[in-house]
Amino acid sequence: MALTPEFAQHLATRLAALRAALAAILPQPRPIVLEIGCGHGHFLERYAAEFPAKFCLGVDFSGDRIDRAQRKARRAGLANCHFVRAEAREFLAMLPAGVTFEEVWVLFPDPWPKKRHHKNRLMQPDFLEILASRAGEGTRLYFRTDHAEYFQAAEESLPSVATWRRAEQPDWPLELETVFQARADSYHSLVAVRTSHPARPRGTVEPALPPPAGPTSAA
Ligand SMILES: C[S@@+](CC[C@H](N)C(=O)[O-])C[C@H]1O[C@@H](n2cnc3c(N)ncnc32)[C@H](O)[C@@H]1O
Repeated sequence: MALTPEFAQHLATRLAALRAALAAILPQPRPIVLEIGCGHGHFLERYAAEFPAKFCLGVDFSGDRIDRAQRKARRAGLANCHFVRAEAREFLAMLPAGVTFEEVWVLFPDPWPKKRHHKNRLMQPDFLEILASRAGEGTRLYFRTDHAEYFQAAEESLPSVATWRRAEQPDWPLELETVFQARADSYHSLVAVRTSHPARPRGTVEPALPPPAGPTSAA
């Protein structure tokens, strides 16, 4: 897709700001617990309090939700809990070299129910491949959704991704109800574990333009 010069400039400025924000949060490379689509930090703030030795970073493209999340972490005095406003793929492309994932959480992501929008879903093979490039063998990815068809699609596509396998023991380290979980009648959970299969070389990942505002999983 050809970008107008104005939009290309806007994108470059945004990515530079994101790179700077991430360098400030992560001045040294380290393993992190990543939550993608963290909303206003309800889950991650409490998770970070429960596991003070883990360095937690939440990402969401809603500025308002990230402002609220940052306020929460500040009020709680949590030095191990940070939030950054970013689109997930742009975040992954701008993350400083050497930062790796200890755990990845994807809780009630937008389900994009229409078939023509499935490409925007986070839980799909190409996105898992990108995550794999920052994850060492044994890293666990926790996925939960109230959207049965999305869950089934993620479940069925997982065997096609050599870098992740479904966990035999889908243990959930800590049960904390997220905002969207509280609204859901029921939900499905899946834990994937990073295998030893080599990840695709980095650099093949290009920052994507954010998709238009998506439907919520409660919709
Ligand atoms: C349905 S809400 C779930 C929020 C929270 N995880 C929960 O369970 O309550 C999905 C969140 O993901 C964010 N989001 C959706 N697509 C995203 C993307 N590509 N990059 C970053 N954030 C995204 C939305 O802004 C929203 O806050």
